Amino acid sequence: MTTQNPGLFIAFEGGDGAGKSTQAAELAATLESRGLTVLRTREPGGTPIGEKLRSLVLDHGHGHIDAHTEALIFAASRAAHASQVIRPALERGEIVLTDRYIDSSVAYQGAGRDLGTEAVRNVNEWATSGLQPDLTVLLDVDPEVGRRRRTAGDAAEDRLESEADEFHARIRTAFLELAAARPEQYLVLPAHLPVDELAVRILSRVESLLSLPRGVGA
Ligand code: TYD
Repeated sequence: MTTQNPGLFIAFEGGDGAGKSTQAAELAATLESRGLTVLRTREPGGTPIGEKLRSLVLDHGHGHIDAHTEALIFAASRAAHASQVIRPALERGEIVLTDRYIDSSVAYQGAGRDLGTEAVRNVNEWATSGLQPDLTVLLDVDPEVGRRRRTAGDAAEDRLESEADEFHARIRTAFLELAAARPEQYLVLPAHLPVDELAVRILSRVESLLSLPRGVGA
């Protein structure tokens, strides 16, 4: 299902250290240089309440957070994000680029935390009233490479990032399965490609979407 809005909704997904933010920034700059209006945002976060939920769920020091609570905090943050930020921007005809969306919960909480991918998807579809990206760019990263990248320069790992490589391997598999189930809605790229090459491939796919009449088709 597309957004049925005049705008274009693109989600960047992938494991930690995949380079999503870099690619979202590159794409935003290119599209803006062509006079298009782009809204860049991220999850968890993207709204004042979402940023508070982000620190609750990611920062160490809030005591034990069980898997269901964790999944519902991410879903609550996403509900606010979808209704307060993403949907209004799409209705204004903007291009929305989000760093993570529903697939992150399906992969991290559904597969990583073993809550079940279907259950987590259902909760999140309810939370967002079924708002789906027109395109999901999946940057596929080897968990070991991802860990090396994100800990370079002594950056501290958050609650999720500091999980074992085996947890991150389950997440990687889940992302790839999501993409394989609906290939027309995904662009899957190996995260180890040079930054410029990734940017060119992503732009080319987005250009093909922009030349299509919006709100038509599957
Ligand atoms: P992210 O903001 O991408 O990390 P960073 O700020 O380091 O770039 O995401 C923070 C973490 O939250 C990341 O480990 C993935 C996790 N996460 C989930 O587990 N479920 C979710 O639904 C989302 C959106 C993120």
